Amino acid sequence: MARTLITSALPYINGVKHLGNLAGSMLPADVYARFKRLSGDEVLLICATDEHGTPAELAAQTAGISVQAYCDEQHEIQRKAGEGFNLSFDWFGRSSSPQNAKLTQYFALKLEEAGLIEERTSKQVYSIDDGRFLPDRYVEGTCPHCEYEKARGDQCDSCGRLLDPVELKSPYSAVSGTTNLEVRETRHLFLLQSKKQDEIRNWVNASEDWPSLAKSIALKWLDEGLQDRAITRDLSWGVPVLNADGSARPGFENKVFYVWFDAPIEYIAATEEWAIANDDDWKRWWRTDEGADDVSYVQFMGKDNVAFHTVSFPVTILGSNEPWKTVDKLKAFNWVTWYGGKFSTSQKRGVFMDQALDLLPADYWRWYLISNSPEGSDAGFTWEGFQAAINSDLANVLGNFVNRITKYCVSKFDGEVPAAGEPGDAEAWMIDELQTRLPTLRRYYEQMEFRKAAAETRAIWAAGNEYLTKAEPWVKYKSDVDAAAIGVRTGLNLAALFGIIAQPIIPETAKTILDALGVPESNRSMNTGDMDDVAALLDALPHGLKVSAPPVLFSKIEDSQVELWTEQFGGGD
Ligand code: MF3
Ligand code: ZN
Repeated sequence: MARTLITSALPYINGVKHLGNLAGSMLPADVYARFKRLSGDEVLLICATDEHGTPAELAAQTAGISVQAYCDEQHEIQRKAGEGFNLSFDWFGRSSSPQNAKLTQYFALKLEEAGLIEERTSKQVYSIDDGRFLPDRYVEGTCPHCEYEKARGDQCDSCGRLLDPVELKSPYSAVSGTTNLEVRETRHLFLLQSKKQDEIRNWVNASEDWPSLAKSIALKWLDEGLQDRAITRDLSWGVPVLNADGSARPGFENKVFYVWFDAPIEYIAATEEWAIANDDDWKRWWRTDEGADDVSYVQFMGKDNVAFHTVSFPVTILGSNEPWKTVDKLKAFNWVTWYGGKFSTSQKRGVFMDQALDLLPADYWRWYLISNSPEGSDAGFTWEGFQAAINSDLANVLGNFVNRITKYCVSKFDGEVPAAGEPGDAEAWMIDELQTRLPTLRRYYEQMEFRKAAAETRAIWAAGNEYLTKAEPWVKYKSDVDAAAIGVRTGLNLAALFGIIAQPIIPETAKTILDALGVPESNRSMNTGDMDDVAALLDALPHGLKVSAPPVLFSKIEDSQVELWTEQFGGGD
């Protein structure tokens, strides 16, 4: 059995994620995982909350509670939101887990043994009024590259460049706003990435299976030259820096590892958390000397995460000189924007995961976000686009088809799959369509072309509608019941097939359809073997099988709803 390991970039702990975050990693990871499971692979889908670093500390401070309490609370909220969206994580872990602390410390020691870690004195912004160092996001100011005035110490949101807090012009403290700052010296561990430049470049070049967005970003970073980077910070919340014997490293008692050092390691540690909970073995997924060499490992992330996954994290795992599994395919996404701009809670722009589920079921959002996946470029969410996609694709093309054919079967054929009738021209046309379209659909999924996979899914549903127009069982019924019977039988089998291919994107609705048609779990697969024989697919339901009409699958979104939501969550003006 082929094995696929899938990780989604770990959402930061500070607050529920918006639809753009969902669409840029967690949702496509889930869709791909579902497709792979349906194709017969053994799949492990891993995600977790990214709990360390300054965003968590700052948010906890704003909330007026301890960081630990804040993370406990937020983890639960995010876990529930993920569950609400039917994200089928095999494990949703926490980067603050003891497994991650241990593994992070282990990697640091291995890297030091390999001569890739060095203690250096570096300059850090110190706040005299706050009485502390201000690493990363604790300091904000003007970007030295693009002059954006609210750049964060670690990265500029405007031009996307990674920054060192001391580079910021006109810096101020994100804690208190004070500008009474000075630069002080402090000691940190540096990861000597520059030593790994050639090895990483060879590794990136050898990766044949990376989609172009990921590869081009990785090569751009390599062309600019890998910088040695501090992997510790003057903070208290995070993974402590220890010696091999477990004692605190002298001079690092008040420091922890940098969040971007420990976060990707949590992919591995979360697998360990999963293994403990399931009495399984995590090393068969991660150690090539313990079986992971036949694992196919796929990562999902937004484009701002690519550098960390193609350069920094590989330096960590390759630099350890141990046989860890590295990524095989890396799928990166552009942004989902809110009418071309940013999502923002404070400015009431955009829908967040928990709010979305208060408005409509998960499948509506999943369909829209996948069929408008930000693959080639950024994709703007608009209420109008959302409404059009739901009303047309889901309500008209899929929903009507299923309701019409099942209802007709119930009213004219006693709700039983008819046995009579021989396939004719209309059926031959449908078979022909599916013979090219089904392999195309599978190929898009294999290539992780989600927008195209959704478009092809819709095209198959649309072809089914065209088939019914050709077969017109309701017309034939009047003169030739057997001729109508073949149309109804084929229609019912098409409805089942539509449910099967809908599973990765809209799993809840797909289940409703397949349950109504009495399709057993074991006959819901999307693997090549089961999709090959199209004629058999269109006569798969046992003759005489009792079927029922499912409840209306989708309700249309009314203009009045769009108006209301535009007011609540913002819109085009
Ligand atoms: N928390 C980061 C973000 O949202 C992603 C971390 S991915 C990981 O941008 F691999 F480092 F965990
Ligand atoms: Zn900038």
